[in-house]
This record gives sequence, C-alpha cells and structure tokens, in this order.
Amino acid sequence: NKVVLAYSGGLDTSVIVPWLKENYGCEVVCFTADVGQGVGETDGLEKKALGSGASKLVVGDLTEEFVRDYIFPCVRAGAVYERKYLLGTSMARPIIAKAMVDVAREVGADAVAHGCTGKGNDQVRFELTFFALNPSLKVVAPWREWDIKGREDAIEYAKKFNIPVPVTKKSIYSRDRNLWHISHEGDVLEDPANEPKKDMYVLTVDPEDAPDTPEYVEIDFESGTPVSVNGEKLSPAQLLTKLNDLGGKHGIGRCDMVENRLVGMKSRGVYETPGGTILVAAARELESLTLDRETMQYKDQIALKYAELVYAGRWFDPLREALDAFVTEVTKCCTGSIKLKLYKGSISVASRRSVNSLYREDISTFEEGNDIYDQADAAGFIKLYGLPIRVRAMNREDK
Ligand code: ARG
Ligand code: SIN
Repeated sequence: NKVVLAYSGGLDTSVIVPWLKENYGCEVVCFTADVGQGVGETDGLEKKALGSGASKLVVGDLTEEFVRDYIFPCVRAGAVYERKYLLGTSMARPIIAKAMVDVAREVGADAVAHGCTGKGNDQVRFELTFFALNPSLKVVAPWREWDIKGREDAIEYAKKFNIPVPVTKKSIYSRDRNLWHISHEGDVLEDPANEPKKDMYVLTVDPEDAPDTPEYVEIDFESGTPVSVNGEKLSPAQLLTKLNDLGGKHGIGRCDMVENRLVGMKSRGVYETPGGTILVAAARELESLTLDRETMQYKDQIALKYAELVYAGRWFDPLREALDAFVTEVTKCCTGSIKLKLYKGSISVASRRSVNSLYREDISTFEEGNDIYDQADAAGFIKLYGLPIRVRAMNREDK
C-alpha cells in the first residue's frame, strides 16, 4: 500500500508516479539520492514530485558516503571492468538502493520501484541490493510492465493525469551522472562505427582544446585511501571534485567502449571519468613501490573479479566483501605521494614517494654494489630457476 520510488524528476519517473497509483493503488513516496549528479533545486524537485501525485519527496545526500564507502574501495581494489570501464554507474546503484531500503523502513513502505528499463544492468543492481538488504520488499519495475513505448506515449500519459511535463529538454543520449562519472549511450553511439560528436561531452574538454601547458597534481594516500591533493587535506567528495576539475580541464578520462551487459547483449557506451582516471593511475603507481611481486600479481587477479561483481550488482555479496577485506589488508602499506603530469588527455608520472617503499636505490643501482646483493649469487639462481627449461631442451637433443 506504500511504495518508495527512485525518482529523478525526469519525464519517465514523473510518469511512473501516477502509473503506480493507477495500477497498484498505492501511496508513492519519491526518493532522490544526491550522489553528486547535480540534483539542482531540491525545492523545485519537491514541487514536481508532489505535482506528479507523490505523497512526499525524500532527498538523501549520499555524496560523501558514496565516495568514501563505494568509490574508494573500488580505487583501492583497482577495479576496472572489461579493461576500460571504471564502474561509475555500477557503484552508484547499490548505495541508492540501500538508501531506498532505509527510507522504506522509515516510512513503512512494503514496496520499492525504479525506472530502469528491462534491457539494462541497472535493474539487476537495484534488485539484487533490495534482495540482499530486505528480501520482503516487493519490487515494481514499470518499464517491464507498462505499454508506454517512448517519449510521446509518456507525455500523453502525463497529460491524461494532468501531470506537468518536465520542461527540461530531454537529451538525445541516455545519460547517467554522479560525482565519479557521466555515461552516454544511445542515438549515434548505437553504431559502434560512429565516432562520438564533440558536443556530447559534459565533464571534459576535448584533449585537442586542452591547455598547451601541462599541469602537475600531487595526491597523498594513506593506506590506499586518497587524502589530499597538492598538500591540501580534503574530504572524499571534495578531493574527487577537485580532481574532476583538473582532469576535465586537461581532457583526462574519456573512454569509448563496447561492453558486455549482464543481460547478455553488447552495448556501446562513452564515459567521462576525469578525477577517477587520475586517482586510479595514482593508486596503481603507488602500488609499484609498496607491493611485492607476489602480492601485486595476486591483487591484479582479485581486481578483475572485484570489478565483475560490482558490475553485476553483487555489491553486498559475501564474496565482494571478502575480497574487500583482502584489498584493505594488502593496501595498508600504500601510504605515500604520487605526482602526475596532466597534458592534453594524457597522464604521466612525475614523482613517486612512499615511507613503505620496497624500492632501494642501494640495491637496485647500476653503480658499485653492496653486500646485500652479490652478482655472483645470480649464476646459481639462474641455473636452478632454468633447470626445467634445460631438461626439456636436453630431451629434445637426445631424440
Ligand atoms: N553501461 C553502464 C553500466 O552498466 C552505464 C549504464 C548507464 N545507466 C543509465 N541508466 N543510463 O554501468
Ligand atoms: C537502463 O536500461 O535502465 C539503463 C541502462 C542499463 O541499465 O544498463
């Protein structure tokens, strides 16, 4: 009899409100999560939600929690989906869904609803989170049920119920934005042979138009967690905002890819992750100083699985949590500072330092040696290390 709807204020979610009332006869509580997408005027949003027939609008400011508890764990893990995607949308769905479960409890709702289509990943991410956190909630996904086919249908439906049609002009792209990234899908992008149009981009300038002078940025990490930029201590959301500005200005973090969706199809998307791309590069670089070979190589394997789980909406799976515990443990030593040079879409490393660095100049130097590393030891090492190779070759010669 009461449902919490993930509400954005756009045409689709505005139409879902009367649709839920008509088809389920329930009271609709709208929930809007601020995850750094630029929610805009909350007053305007409330008026809009009530105008669509909602009993109230709840706005949750999740920005700091999103960066601290969802984004930073993925940065520490080095999670990248299918070689490219930094998981911006994937990380946001579980935190929004979790907040909806909380709101449902607070307002005494027995159901939750979302405006995801039946063809995408997002429906899965929302619903797996609902299952994990409150399996008794009923889930309503209007896109999988109704016969509203497109924008025109939706406008007509809105008119029928005297719902003001949102004035915001719908972009030709399907977009999802938060503090980590913006995604673009649809329209000309649906043919992977088409290059994105220059005016599609929102967070980054074209690398060709970026400043002709490079800019340095220094990021300090404590146990794998970024804590300051250019010496200034910042909260997680402030830090990411700052890196987004820098990255955007220098055309950093554009990614154009064809990916495998959970529901089986391939899809083409373009992402802009300016600050995130800088952070991921810096975190990796720090690991090159602090992690030993075995740990780093194993961690790289974990990162793949971690990314798959996050992409698949399995944020609250015991496996994701266990992998997170591993990552937290092995990145305890990742304290230090990385200076990067940003220039026309590229990132190069200018400087690396760590109190826990395993790199020792006195051992690695080409100059006169020391007694920790005796070059004569290498001869025996290579003989034994290469023994199987020699045996195989000897067998071949015997034949
Ligand atoms: N393909 C990306 C993902 O699954 C981005 C999805 C964008 N979502 C959206 N509602 N526009 O994570
Ligand atoms: C949607 O279908 O709602 C957006 C795309 C996606 O979830 O992958």
